[in-house]
Amino acid sequence: MANKTDDRSAKQPGGGWSTEGLGYLQDEGAKQRVYVVHPYLRDRREASHLKRSPEARLDEAMGLALAIDVDLVGGEVTHLRERRPATLIGLGKVDELKAMVEEEEIDLLIFDCELSPGQQRNLERGTKCKVIDRTALILEIFGARASTKEGELQVELAHLEYQRSRLVRSWTHLERQRGGSGFMGGPGETQIEADRRIIAERITRIKRQLEQVTRTRTLHRARRQKAPYPVVALVGYTNAGKSTLFNRLTKAEVLAEDMLFATLDPTMRALEMPSGKRIILSDTVGFISELPTTLVAAFRATLEEVCEADIIVHVRDASHPDSEIQKLDVEEVLADLGVEITEEGEGTPTIEALNKVDLMSEEEQAALVTKDDRIRHMAALSGLTGEGCDRLIATIDDLLGTTDLHMELTVPYSDGATQAWLHANSSILREEHGEEGVTFEFNVDPIAWAKFSQRH
Ligand code: GTP
Repeated sequence: MANKTDDRSAKQPGGGWSTEGLGYLQDEGAKQRVYVVHPYLRDRREASHLKRSPEARLDEAMGLALAIDVDLVGGEVTHLRERRPATLIGLGKVDELKAMVEEEEIDLLIFDCELSPGQQRNLERGTKCKVIDRTALILEIFGARASTKEGELQVELAHLEYQRSRLVRSWTHLERQRGGSGFMGGPGETQIEADRRIIAERITRIKRQLEQVTRTRTLHRARRQKAPYPVVALVGYTNAGKSTLFNRLTKAEVLAEDMLFATLDPTMRALEMPSGKRIILSDTVGFISELPTTLVAAFRATLEEVCEADIIVHVRDASHPDSEIQKLDVEEVLADLGVEITEEGEGTPTIEALNKVDLMSEEEQAALVTKDDRIRHMAALSGLTGEGCDRLIATIDDLLGTTDLHMELTVPYSDGATQAWLHANSSILREEHGEEGVTFEFNVDPIAWAKFSQRH
């Protein structure tokens, strides 16, 4: 077991990274046997009614672990009396885990918390098993899921920064990571310096590439704004059902799986509303609680799409026991991005899509009436069965319509450009052919209309 651990770790600094993940799980052959530990220290300052139970947190961590292709053997909540600097958990518990690792032939222990490099090392020694923390796990998932160039670069950047923080903080950890190079115990300072330099160079290069990609994306965005279809962004907690709903609404092929983080990069599709208005529907990355700060920063660009949305649809798993807490988590992330849901209903209009009602009894569904005055628009639905989706579409359509100008205009037959523009960008209520041209009665977005009128 110890050798196996060293071999895998040796793939780390200087050995080249891939965006496939951290490489802990890249052994060929049988799936890695994984066990999840959620260390729990009761914090009396936290409001108990708004807190997830440690069991629910463990469940979520196990769900995350399932998102990577491993053999999940089990998990447990470990109650801590205090945080031990060296091992986090008590020594008796370390021994217990060691016995379990041996008995169950565990290859990887996932600690659902942040571990210092020293704690990670000591836990690995104590349990005779590879140990990773929550950040490494999420990086692993992001790495496996990134599907666009920008997503891949962001993951690689977050990944390198994670590695760099570990290099700076602990040389001995690095020595272990480069294990197998001799029994004098790892490399000298020069090797460490070389690793640091390689990481720094790669970070600079990736940042440059990212700038380029972001610039291209900004251009795309500018072009889209000219289009000018309003953008409707689906946001929500991971596994809330965004991709399923997106597919239902657009009938497009997007990866929808019973895995967390099935969506990493925003996916967009144009969609026509019953009123004839077109929108761009955007499916965004799922949120999770306690996303490590380094990752939040790395994924900001992806989430920033949401800031530019004209309407936000907050997809919630209404059937989930932690639905309310998940909602607060999502709102917190949105607030960080500058998207506030205010009491006055100002800011970006938000619709709550209370999803998965097919899993709920009629009484439970009836209890879904809003408890939150800030949310003025909501639709109970099921992305899976399609039930209630029409209501969501109608709500989006209504919201789009509230700011529209109502106009009547006769366009000469010779002005094909204006006719074509109206067909593409307004919702036409009446179209009559007369002597002087075509008379249109239509609703149009005032900004789009102003832009168009200026050009003509
Ligand atoms: P992330 O990509 O992790 O952010 O997830 P997501 O929010 O895009 O969720 P996704 O659409 O992948 O759905 C997650 C799981 O919930 C899948 O197993 C879906 O089949 C299931 N699901 C989604 N919508 C519904 C629903 O309305 N009813 C039921 N019963 N299951 C649903």
